[in-house]
Amino acid sequence: MGKLRIGIAGLGTVGCGTLALIERNRALIEQRTGQTLEVVAVCARDRARTRPVDLAGMRWFDDPKALAADPGVDVVCELIGGSEGPALETVREALRLGKPVVTANKAMLAHHGAELARLAEQAGVQLAWEAAVAGGIPIVKSLREGLAANRIRRVNGILNGTSNYILTSMRETGRDFETVLAEAQALGYAEADPSFDVDGIDAAHKLALLASLAFGGRPRFDAIHVEGIRHVAAIDIAFAEELGYRIKLLGTARMTPEGLEQRLHPCMVAKDAPIAQVNGVFNGVVVEGEDVDAVLHEGRGAGAGPTASAVVADLVDIARGTRVPTLGVPAERLADHPIAPMAAH
Ligand code: NDP
Ligand code: HSE
Repeated sequence: MGKLRIGIAGLGTVGCGTLALIERNRALIEQRTGQTLEVVAVCARDRARTRPVDLAGMRWFDDPKALAADPGVDVVCELIGGSEGPALETVREALRLGKPVVTANKAMLAHHGAELARLAEQAGVQLAWEAAVAGGIPIVKSLREGLAANRIRRVNGILNGTSNYILTSMRETGRDFETVLAEAQALGYAEADPSFDVDGIDAAHKLALLASLAFGGRPRFDAIHVEGIRHVAAIDIAFAEELGYRIKLLGTARMTPEGLEQRLHPCMVAKDAPIAQVNGVFNGVVVEGEDVDAVLHEGRGAGAGPTASAVVADLVDIARGTRVPTLGVPAERLADHPIAPMAAH
C-alpha cells in the first residue's frame, strides 16, 4: 500500500478537525484510495498549547514554510488563514517545490487565486480548495466537475455560516447580535477576525471564487458590492417576519450583457422560498445552468467536522492522482471579464 505523507500547517478548528478525521477514517480511506494518509509533520504558532488531537510521532515546525520544504512531506495542507503572510508564503513555497497543496483559505485564493493556479499548473500539481467555500458542501466540485457541461446563468446563495447562524438565532431566540456572535466564535464557525463574517467580506471572498468557476474568469473580489449584517437589528428581523419574509445575507453572481455582476448584501426572502429554509450554520447555494435549470446545494457551512470533510476529500483526490485545473479552466485561459455597473437594489 502506498503512503501519502502529509504536512499540516495550522492546528486550529480546521487543522485539528482534519487530523481527527484522517485518524478516525483511516481504514475507509485506505480502501477507497489504496493509500495510507499519514500526517508526518505539523505546524502552529504555540507549541505549548493543549490541542484535542494526538501529535505523537509527528515532526513539529514553528515555521510553516519550513514544513512545506521538509523533504519528508509529499503534500501540504495550509490551514492557517489570512490572505497574505505565512499562509501565502507557505503555499507558494510548496508549489515552487512541486508539492500538491490543499487549502481552506478563501481570503488567499480570492486575492491570489489566479497566480497560485498558474504556479500549480506550471508545477504540474493539484491546488485543491473544496473547504474554502461553504464548508462541507462539495460546491467547488459541483461547479467545476459536475456542472462542467453547463453554461451557468447565475450563482446565488448563503455563503457564510456565522452570519446565517446569527440571523437565525436572533429571529428564533430573540438574543442580541453580540451574544450570538460570541457563541458562533466559541463553536469554531467564525473567522479569526469575525468582522470578516459580519461585514460580508468572507462571503464575498467565496462569491468571487464561485464566480470564477462559474464564468471562467480570474477571481474579482475587488469588483463585488459588499454589505454585511452588522446593521441588521432585531426589529428589522421582526418586521420582515411579520410581512412574510426572512432576512438572509445573499451573494449573487451573474453574467449580464454589460459584464460580470457580483453582489453580497442582506435580502428579504419570502418565507416559503427554499433559501429561506436554510438556517443556522447551514449554507445554501443555488446554481442555475442552462441544462440543469436550478441545483440547490445545502449543508453545514462552517465548523470542524464539515470543513475537515472537504479537506480530506481533497487529500483523497490527490491520493487517487486526480488532476483538474484549479479554477476550472487552465490559468492562462482565465478571462478578464468586464464588470457590470451595479444595478439598483
Ligand atoms: P484557527 O484560528 O482556529 O486556527 C489557525 C491555526 O493557524 C492555529 O493553529 C494557529 O496556531 C495557526 N497559525 C496562525 N498563524 C500562524 C503562523 N504564523 N505560523 C504557524 N501557524 C500559525 O482557524 P480555523 O481553523 O478556523 O481556520 C483555518 C483556515 O480555514 C482559514 O483560512 C479559515 O478561513 C478556513 N476555514 C475555516 C472554517 C471554520 O469553520 N473555522 C471553515 C472553512 C474554512 P496556534 O493554534 O498556535 O495559535
Ligand atoms: N467563518 C466562515 C463561516 C467559516 O462562518 O462561514 C467557513 O468558511
